[in-house]
Amino acid sequence: MNFWQQLQQPIIGLSPMDGVTDHPYRHMQKKYGNPTVIYTEFASVEGLCRGAAKLLKDFLFDEIQRPIVAQVYGTTPKFFRQTAVVLCELGFDGIDINMGCPAKNVAHSGAGAALIKTPELAQEIIRETKAGVEDWLQGMKIADLPDITPEIAKIVQARHDALPQAYQEKRALPISIKTRVGYDAPVISEWIPRLLELEPTCIAIHGRTLRQQYSGVADWERIGEAAELAAGSNTLILGNGDVDSLETARQRTEEYKLAGVLIGRASMGNPFVFRASQLDEPSLFAIAVEHAKLFEATYQINDSYAFLPMRKNLGWYVRSIPNAKEVRAELFQANTSQEVREILKRHGLV
Ligand SMILES: Cc1cc2nc3c(=O)[nH]c(=O)nc-3n(C[C@H](O)[C@H](O)[C@H](O)COP(=O)(O)O)c2cc1C
Repeated sequence: MNFWQQLQQPIIGLSPMDGVTDHPYRHMQKKYGNPTVIYTEFASVEGLCRGAAKLLKDFLFDEIQRPIVAQVYGTTPKFFRQTAVVLCELGFDGIDINMGCPAKNVAHSGAGAALIKTPELAQEIIRETKAGVEDWLQGMKIADLPDITPEIAKIVQARHDALPQAYQEKRALPISIKTRVGYDAPVISEWIPRLLELEPTCIAIHGRTLRQQYSGVADWERIGEAAELAAGSNTLILGNGDVDSLETARQRTEEYKLAGVLIGRASMGNPFVFRASQLDEPSLFAIAVEHAKLFEATYQINDSYAFLPMRKNLGWYVRSIPNAKEVRAELFQANTSQEVREILKRHGLV
């Protein structure tokens, strides 16, 4: 039994968002929203296996975020195998393979949603990722991996050693997939069975095609078809796309017979989207200050540190106040959590 099967349903998880769901974002979402499961931003297996140590920042997390799934993308099966060993060693609860990203730099290389057009390669990638978990269970060490540099191995080892004892021990990490309903047009009845053959623990489906990017509305009928195809298997199906409240999450889960949903954009500046009630919780503005402090504490040690990536979050937190534009303009000049607090205080928000 792996963690996915033990989750209370409906599963209402935080969807992976590159450039958004970094360690501080995930921490705040879990603390104040408590999504059932959390994914990291995606990271490239090619990048990791070609020595890009900076990618390891995407894999930062703390214990509060469990269960936490690491998401990766790429096209090279042997790199998925080695990356799986790295992710096991880092103490993740699961590994998710991105087969849904429509971004040109990803899909043009054949990764992300482009894998929908090459199901054989998609299957090979799943097999090799599983083989990587098996290598780790059999005792494979980071130092044994041919394409992992000593610099990366050292960082991974240090993080492994800092894990609580229970997470240093061998566990068979489950493999999940996140995908879309199709490339140019929906192909659920061809695509989903190809994935099911490899028995992933979970498939999360965004109800748009690659071609649609983020336009139009998510097609939940297609997601429902996938759930029908998976009925009777051990694979959980999660729906995704345009879920903006707990009520919608529950309604979609029930109507389309899903194990649950993932929420992405509606969580921006609003971890309460995952909660039935927010009584006794601090205001979004107090959460904004706490988020900014954690952002500083997490990244200030880096040479290339900048407060800039934090600012978009600040804009989201104040989105719904009457003078949002004015406050946002001031927050977008802030360079420290102290300045954020002062600005919000001046406007009577904290
Ligand atoms: C800024 C941004 C970055 C994203 N990055 C990823 C990613 O790294 N991996 C992934 O599987 N999906 C990614 N997505 C897609 C979301 O996880 C989700 O499938 C999509 O936004 C639809 O859900 P929503 O309507 O709840 O936002 C991203 C979406 C956005 C808006």
